[in-house]
Amino acid sequence: MSREVVLAARKETLSGTGCFGMREERHLYIRTFGCQMNVHDSEQMEALLMKEGFRITDTDKSADLIIVNTCSIREKAEQKVYSILGRYRGLKQARPGMIIGVGGCMAQQKGAELFARAPYIDFVFGTHNIHRLPEIVKDVERNRARRVETCFHDTVYSIGIVTPPHNGSVSSFVTIMQGCNNFCSFCVVPYLRGREESRELKDIVDEITILASHGVKEVTLLGQNVNSYGNTLHNGADFPSLLKKIGDIEGIERIRFTTSHPKDLSDGLIECFATVDKLCEHIHLPVQSGSDSVLKRMNRRYDADDYLRKVNKLREVCPYISISTDFIVGFPGESESDFQKTIDLMEEVRFDNAFSFKYSARPGTAAEKLDDRIPEPVKRERLTRVQELQQIHTVEKNHALKGMVEDILVVGLSKNSHTDVSGRTKTNRIVNFEGERELIGKTVCVSIHNTYIHSLRGKLFEKERNQKC
Ligand code: SAH
Ligand code: SF4
Ligand code: F3S
Repeated sequence: MSREVVLAARKETLSGTGCFGMREERHLYIRTFGCQMNVHDSEQMEALLMKEGFRITDTDKSADLIIVNTCSIREKAEQKVYSILGRYRGLKQARPGMIIGVGGCMAQQKGAELFARAPYIDFVFGTHNIHRLPEIVKDVERNRARRVETCFHDTVYSIGIVTPPHNGSVSSFVTIMQGCNNFCSFCVVPYLRGREESRELKDIVDEITILASHGVKEVTLLGQNVNSYGNTLHNGADFPSLLKKIGDIEGIERIRFTTSHPKDLSDGLIECFATVDKLCEHIHLPVQSGSDSVLKRMNRRYDADDYLRKVNKLREVCPYISISTDFIVGFPGESESDFQKTIDLMEEVRFDNAFSFKYSARPGTAAEKLDDRIPEPVKRERLTRVQELQQIHTVEKNHALKGMVEDILVVGLSKNSHTDVSGRTKTNRIVNFEGERELIGKTVCVSIHNTYIHSLRGKLFEKERNQKC
């Protein structure tokens, strides 16, 4: 099956003459849950539907079409989706003509079951059916009959939809691969996103070149495990070669990626932090646990020493690299001494940032069948200990930047003050400082005056990027 790249340029003003054509203007509201990949999937849905004459609205009350893009990673994520669907029941009662669609990972998992729980839903579409959205919506609108589309396709068209930014955004996501073959025993993603598949290198480079021509300065490359990029292509392309090619694209100043599986973090990729200038000095490298026996039961295929060796290599090649991670606490059979090994690993690495979660059993996964479940209060207490320790490390790492001058790509106005702009360091820290809107899209030097847990505060030092900062 050949690949299809759908160029879905956003239009500021839409005439409403798209194939839906029943009303002058139709409003679309998308509510997104889950990871950055889901956020980008929603952007692709928007691009496809805008091409059909929909206009984006930021309030669900006035929407003609509501799409809930769902996540299934933990039970709590599913509860949030059910809670928002409860709200939409009321909206649908008030405006029966509106259409409600549910997409994403939970839609993939539950399919038609969702109709039983929320009978007012009009259609359900899975992770491999994003590109079919215009056709599904049109059909539901004309025939007022429910649709469920959750089959997996050999080639996933939707990963090639280009979404040039509207509203002047200078940072874009780019999906470079999808699916996952790793089957970590706790994780539902391989069952919901299908097998790993990489996009052709040329398609990715073409997409980023288009984004650069729309003023994009920073791209974040997305995949469940970007380190294995190229494995399904069988043409020699791998992640380091992709990074180098993107590094040559004019207009692109910063490259980020997420996520990296430690077992596939090669020396070649680590070297890129020294050789690809535009690669930002940050890596998200989920460790999950510091205990070898837990890692084994998680089917992670590395041990704590392997992980520490990779951290050391990263720091040798790039001394200022910031390293963030994910932890799961309370995995079945995690003893107090297993948990202590996670704390020890945290003390040894001193991560710049971390996301930590209580283990949540997911249907169909290998870990769901494991005995020796950890009681909820124990999980809660371990989560608190991890979070308190991480807070100390994050504060300490941020504090070390006080007095430094940092290169900041300004991405927008600050959320908290209309006289401030906001940007990020190459190490992925948010920095707010007083500045004009005209700075958006520029890389400037900012001296850091105050540091907090989630952000830094600075002062504009030089309006142009300076090699010294
Ligand atoms: N592909 C990414 C992970 C995506 S899921 C990777 O491998 O890094 C993001 C994070 O959610 C995981 O790193 C893990 O820490 C957490 N997670 C996944 N499944 C979970 C579960 N069943 N219970 C609790 N946390 C989970
Ligand atoms: Fe899930 Fe593991 Fe794949 Fe990440 S690498 S998506 S944690 S199975
Ligand atoms: Fe959630 Fe699916 Fe992402 S389960 S974390 S939205 S891949």
